[in-house]
Amino acid sequence: MNVLLIGSGGREHAIAWKLAQSKNLSKLYIAPGNAGTSECGENIPIAANDVDKLVSFARQNDVGLVVVGPEDPLAAGVVDAMEKAGIKAFGPSGGAAALEADKAFAKQLMRASAVSTAEGRIFDRFSDAKKYIASRDEAVVVKAAGLAQGKGVIICDEPSDGILVAEKIMCDKIFGSAGDKIIVEEKLLGEEASILAFVDGHNIYVMESSQDHKAVGDGDTGPNTGGMGAYSPAPVVTDEMMDRITREILVPIVDGMNRNGTPYKGVLYAGLMITSGGPRVLEFNVRFGDPETQPILMRLKSDLLEVFLAVCDSKLDEITLNWDQRPAVCVVMASGGYPGDYEKGKKITGLKEAGRLKDVIVFHAGTKKENGDIVTNGGRVLGVTALGEQIIDAKKRAYEAVEKIKFDGAYWRRDIADKAIKNSN
Ligand code: AMP
Ligand code: GLY
Repeated sequence: MNVLLIGSGGREHAIAWKLAQSKNLSKLYIAPGNAGTSECGENIPIAANDVDKLVSFARQNDVGLVVVGPEDPLAAGVVDAMEKAGIKAFGPSGGAAALEADKAFAKQLMRASAVSTAEGRIFDRFSDAKKYIASRDEAVVVKAAGLAQGKGVIICDEPSDGILVAEKIMCDKIFGSAGDKIIVEEKLLGEEASILAFVDGHNIYVMESSQDHKAVGDGDTGPNTGGMGAYSPAPVVTDEMMDRITREILVPIVDGMNRNGTPYKGVLYAGLMITSGGPRVLEFNVRFGDPETQPILMRLKSDLLEVFLAVCDSKLDEITLNWDQRPAVCVVMASGGYPGDYEKGKKITGLKEAGRLKDVIVFHAGTKKENGDIVTNGGRVLGVTALGEQIIDAKKRAYEAVEKIKFDGAYWRRDIADKAIKNSN
């Protein structure tokens, strides 16, 4: 079968790497891909958001399955467009993608489905938001309701800062129309975890747990990024906790999506705060997480193409998935300055030496080939991922690989997985 994978991040390299191992794969195309994905299949110069061109390409190249990595094309309805053209596509419909693309919708659905989340209010007028925030005397979290590349959530420990942030989002439109509506909610305390599940409309298969590191600096300091590293499994998600997450969050949301007339298919990602009172939802994403996918897929032993097809055909109950019991750790190497301004085009060396280490895969994100070299082409550049007997071994190996890779201005956090190491002692 020919497969077209949409996207160009570390997540997509991990998906491409895994699909390339499938016995039923004939040809893999990646649009637009990066230097890493070009080693797993053929990169096609079509932007991830160019739905019309993607549909024509899939039609002309006998594509049997389209796999969508990022949220933007999902929200733009790429799955609906492919299905209309008679092409199978893995991911939710545009309507179901509202679970991520419209945080106000997600909040309302959680309320209607009795799913525990931060107490919050939705506003479409700044004056109302201002009045509400001014009446609060605790920290507030202000969120643009629409898609803002992971940057639309701002935690304000002082409510007065919340008013300024709300003004920037709603009046100055720092996130464009994504800020037409905002959510103002309470700040939750606890440890975060990412739970990703395959959902085929009815059946839910929960993958191994993971944890992201959102903040740019060691010790979770500085501004939020797309994610600076991840590990799987997350010790904070015990078997008992996973049961609760499934029963109290995943099942009611999948039911709620059906009741809403937007049945859910694809990967459902619950971003959770594990609080002293139990798991509470920070947000839903309608796709694989990045960088969580890198350690998760490195641990998946089963054929990913088979899983994608089972989801599309609503036959998830007919397959079983096997996992490597060893933990995996992914350290993101970023361009200096990220998540603010950064330069591109820096030559990367040491990739081969790092990749030769046992149980290490260097997943590419913002990279491209240029005159025979591999150069940086984005904020997050590489996701250096390793398996180890214990999480401490996986961490050691990942950092050993990181040390072999060089590019001007390379930046990475030094404390990825430390929380897990502490928790597992
Ligand atoms: P989101 O994009 O909604 O997951 O938010 C990005 C990050 O902001 C999360 O991963 C959390 O670290 C943080 N966050 C979001 N909502 C809250 C909340 N209500 N309380 C505390 N932290 C939050
Ligand atoms: N790692 C967070 C995300 O994929 O949104």
